Amino acid sequence: MYIKDRTFVISGGASGLGLATVRDLHAHGGYISILDLNAENGDAIVEELGSRTKFFETDVTDTDSVQAAVAGTVAWIKETHKPIGAVIPAAGVGSPGKLIDRHNEPIPLAQLDFVININLRGVLDLIRLCLPHMTTTEPTEPDGERGVIIMVSSSAAFDGQPGQAAYAASKGAIRSLTLVLARDLAQNGIRAVSIAPSYFESNMTAQMSEKVRKSLEKVLEFPKRPGKGEDFAKMVRHCVENVMLNGECIRLDGATRMPSKL
Ligand SMILES: NC(=O)c1ccc[n+]([C@@H]2O[C@H](COP(=O)([O-])OP(=O)(O)OC[C@H]3O[C@@H](n4cnc5c(N)ncnc54)[C@H](O)[C@@H]3O)[C@@H](O)[C@H]2O)c1
Repeated sequence: MYIKDRTFVISGGASGLGLATVRDLHAHGGYISILDLNAENGDAIVEELGSRTKFFETDVTDTDSVQAAVAGTVAWIKETHKPIGAVIPAAGVGSPGKLIDRHNEPIPLAQLDFVININLRGVLDLIRLCLPHMTTTEPTEPDGERGVIIMVSSSAAFDGQPGQAAYAASKGAIRSLTLVLARDLAQNGIRAVSIAPSYFESNMTAQMSEKVRKSLEKVLEFPKRPGKGEDFAKMVRHCVENVMLNGECIRLDGATRMPSKL
């Protein structure tokens, strides 16, 4: 898929990996529709990057809010004539917790719902609402491609990261969904891939304790540093541009495997 003169719908685009992706695709000529809860950051990014960006204050757990953002994006596309090239649902949260705590108390259901509703339900909802606007675009030469869905999984989907039951379940679901979407959307010329980062610098990981961060740093193979937003954004760009990438969940982890104990 071409980046130039296409619109990219990016949830979670106001921070971290999503924001790095916004910057990269914008720098390569894309039009960017940013969906995020954080209006202060979202407005600041649009102010900085200018007219090829649009911000929609969106809660991905609220389908009315997602519908309004998709409708706003479609109205913008009617003005710009830059059809959707990719949907990148990057909004996500972590909320560590075992299913029972050390007092044998079950985790509050609301904590599980919080993670699953953003990381899984919110992803499915955004993709579902964008698809009708992708399947009806003109296919591009030479393969008849119409677009790509690029989801964000995690090492947690592979490595049995301890104390991350809801997070690992949500990211494992994204991994499982990848081939299904690729198969279901093949007839429409739409690809689906997911990227599974390990430990990347972002607001999310800045909230981890010093102890957890230090022990994660010990298990890094090469390079001996956490991933950066730009490393992630480069992979997204490759997923956009390489038509042969389809149906795969790609680990982006510098060979790091999460240990059983931190
Ligand atoms: N940072 C890492 O190490 C890492 C590793 C693996 C996967 N990931 C995944 O990468 C994605 C991006 O995370 P990040 O690390 O950049 O975190 P981040 O906290 O920097 O960014 C997440 C963004 O999502 C937005 N968001 C949260 N809830 C929302 C909601 N209900 N509606 C709309 N927007 C909402 C936040 O406002 C924020 O802008 C997530 O899906 C995360 O699970 C991150």
